[in-house]
Amino acid sequence: MTDIHALRDDFPIFNKQLDGQPLCYLDSAATAQKPNKVIDVIKNFYENENSNVHRGLHTLSENATIRYEGARETIATFLNVSAKEIVWTSGATESLNLLAHCLSNGLNANSKIVISPFEHHANIVPWQEACKRTGAQLLVLPMLESGVLDEQGAIALLQAHKPDILSIGHVSNALGNIQPIEPLIKLCKALGTKTVIDGAQSLMHLRPDLKALDCDFYVFSAHKSLGPTGVGGLYGRYALLNALPVYKTGGEMIHEVTFAHSSYRDAPGKFEPGTPNISGVIGFAAAINYLNGIDSMALQRHEQVLYHSLLEKLTKIAGVTVYGDTNNNVGIVSFNYKNEHHYDLATLLNTYGVAVRSGHHCTQPLMKMLNVNGTVRASLAFYNNEDDIEHFINALKATIELLD
Ligand SMILES: Cc1ncc(COP(=O)(O)O)c(C=O)c1O
Repeated sequence: MTDIHALRDDFPIFNKQLDGQPLCYLDSAATAQKPNKVIDVIKNFYENENSNVHRGLHTLSENATIRYEGARETIATFLNVSAKEIVWTSGATESLNLLAHCLSNGLNANSKIVISPFEHHANIVPWQEACKRTGAQLLVLPMLESGVLDEQGAIALLQAHKPDILSIGHVSNALGNIQPIEPLIKLCKALGTKTVIDGAQSLMHLRPDLKALDCDFYVFSAHKSLGPTGVGGLYGRYALLNALPVYKTGGEMIHEVTFAHSSYRDAPGKFEPGTPNISGVIGFAAAINYLNGIDSMALQRHEQVLYHSLLEKLTKIAGVTVYGDTNNNVGIVSFNYKNEHHYDLATLLNTYGVAVRSGHHCTQPLMKMLNVNGTVRASLAFYNNEDDIEHFINALKATIELLD
């Protein structure tokens, strides 16, 4: 049995004081903190194992290659897919750019791409560019006034338009909503619509089983899931992935090059030109191994207890408005207090050692639909505890007293 409360000790950042105060970190949706196991693996790689992959016959290079390819197995097993279906990228943003570029190949003015109102800019702008290149139309699923996806409206829109592609986030980074992607994927399959799921916010909280989800593509980011920054990846159903045209080109992704012509490796190699982020990939695998050691049900229970405690205390404060789906949520609370500016709230909270995010959270269209120019976002992870919630609420009350 995992003792969830003890896991906080694995994260060295919580031993430090920040401006003379303990750190109350409520910004895991921006990036998760890193356990010793991840930090140590990266340090050890550079101290004892550093070498380039795939190129050398010497021992260090062979070992680095084994670790790098082993990491692909690790993430594939975690997601319940095959290693050849995993492509390493620099993160969710690059994965979405790759997919928007490659999947839009062959689209035309009759084509349709659908996204949801909750998308991060990384899952909007690449599709807009794809539409500009091809003449395809970008459509947006409907939202209820409560800040929840209108599921029936979404189904009706998909049935009416039979789009070429649906690209939707599994979890909203701005609000924490867990989207009802299962029925949408099922419907898309029947309609012949390719499905892209932005899993940047879900890996650490929901541990998705991609075989069960049955989506075509799923993108993820290491740093949101205890791993290092600058690395992430995508899953693609192999036949679809291998049929995609190349995206970035260069060394390593080729089969043969002449001055007249180049031929390419099969996926995933053809999407990984140049020297990859080797230490990042190995560090990401360490993060996944760390998560594998935690009972996922216990992790989710702990996060839900903290989330509902935070929500209950926050909504007792008169003048607080909370946005989004509070029934299906990974543990992100997005709120405003009266007409106070979210920047002022976050800046004052920082003076109490509270790290929260404020602004539009890279979801400007969603903020417009919610009729706000931004929110304060407190986002939880399993390494938070009830003390963090108490500290945050007390700091918020003190902040409000200063502002009122
Ligand atoms: C839902 C969502 N998608 C995509 C991204 C971009 O991820 P990355 O930092 O890996 O590029 C983020 C980052 O905040 C996100 O929250």
